Amino acid sequence: MKPLLLFIATLSCLYSSDMKYNRGEMLYFSKVCNACHGPSAEGGSSAPRLAQKNQSYLKNKLQHFKSGKTANQTQEVMVQFAVKLTKDEIESLTYFLSRHKGNTNKDVSSELLGGFGS
Ligand code: HEC
Repeated sequence: MKPLLLFIATLSCLYSSDMKYNRGEMLYFSKVCNACHGPSAEGGSSAPRLAQKNQSYLKNKLQHFKSGKTANQTQEVMVQFAVKLTKDEIESLTYFLSRHKGNTNKDVSSELLGGFGS
């Protein structure tokens, strides 16, 4: 009985972290983060790369922006996007970004952008 339970627990654990990654990816596009940070979170001309950065670093930054704290004028643009994020959304977004595997889900972007940008 025990090995079976362990197996189920492992499966559900894998499944839920995968869900979190996918949820973060959906949010990344639906909250238009991709417009500035790029479709693969690789960064753009005015916004930094987010992919593969440390999760707590990203979380800290977003929580700071959410509370209106910025270090310079370029960061002020982030406040309007961060204030709309819930704690849970920040968790999913940063989970996804820190483990970013590249633009694997082209369907998400083309679905949300109607083919534009893919
Ligand atoms: C209008 C353009 C724009 C949009 C849209 C945007 N950002 Fe940003 N983002 C920026 C700029 C500009 C900075 C600050 C760059 C700097 O520190 O000089 C930034 C910084 C960040 C940082 C800190 C990165 C670091 O390494 O310091 C995070 C995290 C971040 N953005 C996440 C997001 C998320 C998540 C979304 C979507 C909810 C988003 N951004 C939407 C322009 C944008």
